[in-house]
Amino acid sequence: MSSTLGASESSILLKQGAESKIHAVTFLGLPTVVKERFPKTYRHPALDASLTRERMKAELRAIAKCRQIGVRVPVIYFVDEQKSSIYMEHIQNSNTVRDFIQKVQAGSGDAQRLLVPLMAKVGAIIGTLHSNNLIHGDLTTSNMLLLEPAADANIILIDFGLSYVEASAEDKGVDLYVLERAFLSTHPNSEELFAHIISAYQEANKKGLREVMSKFEEVRLRGRKRSMVG
Ligand SMILES: Nc1ncnc2c1ncn2[C@@H]1O[C@H](COP(=O)(O)OP(=O)(O)O)[C@@H](O)[C@H]1O
Ligand SMILES: [Mg+2]
Repeated sequence: MSSTLGASESSILLKQGAESKIHAVTFLGLPTVVKERFPKTYRHPALDASLTRERMKAELRAIAKCRQIGVRVPVIYFVDEQKSSIYMEHIQNSNTVRDFIQKVQAGSGDAQRLLVPLMAKVGAIIGTLHSNNLIHGDLTTSNMLLLEPAADANIILIDFGLSYVEASAEDKGVDLYVLERAFLSTHPNSEELFAHIISAYQEANKKGLREVMSKFEEVRLRGRKRSMVG
């Protein structure tokens, strides 16, 4: 980062994604993460600027909504509109759920016993989102941070740039399908674990559940047909 408003000189690049950079800084004395969405050169500059802006706004809106409905998210400290950067609480002493699952599955312990309560928590969180008509838009195990100690299953949801408010069963079904695809490709042979997410989801989101589940089945079938056609 060129200059970081109000932050200490030392800024450590934590992650570099396709659309954003994540830096760790100290801001007003607090451990902070700066998520900066940078321009994509292959997009038309004006279109790019408005997309970047929309994603940042979507992220801020969803984080505010999550706080209202009791879903844990990082605290927002500051927004730099000029740079499309969000300064937020650095969730320290955490792993992504992705890394945690991979670590447990690679180990010698009873992976199911360790992971099932965690999957139940993941399902409950998504159920809470959907019962409040909040669609995440990019549900993956990399977008869930798990606080230490892992046994407490305290999860913090992040990366809301594609999120929006929508009551329809279709959008909720697609949100679940996006997670299923990401989950099974990141964690192969984990259908059983994924099923625990879905059952906890069903407990937490009774509103229009039948319709959501049938849409989920429908998009799954469409997905399968597509992959058979190639
Ligand atoms: N507030 C945070 N505290 C700790 N780590 C974070 C935080 N926000 C993001 N990260 C880390 O950076 C990664 C990318 O952030 P994310 O918001 O998911 O951006 P992207 O759109 O690039 O995926 C996350 O998977 C996580 O490892
Ligand atoms: Mg992400």
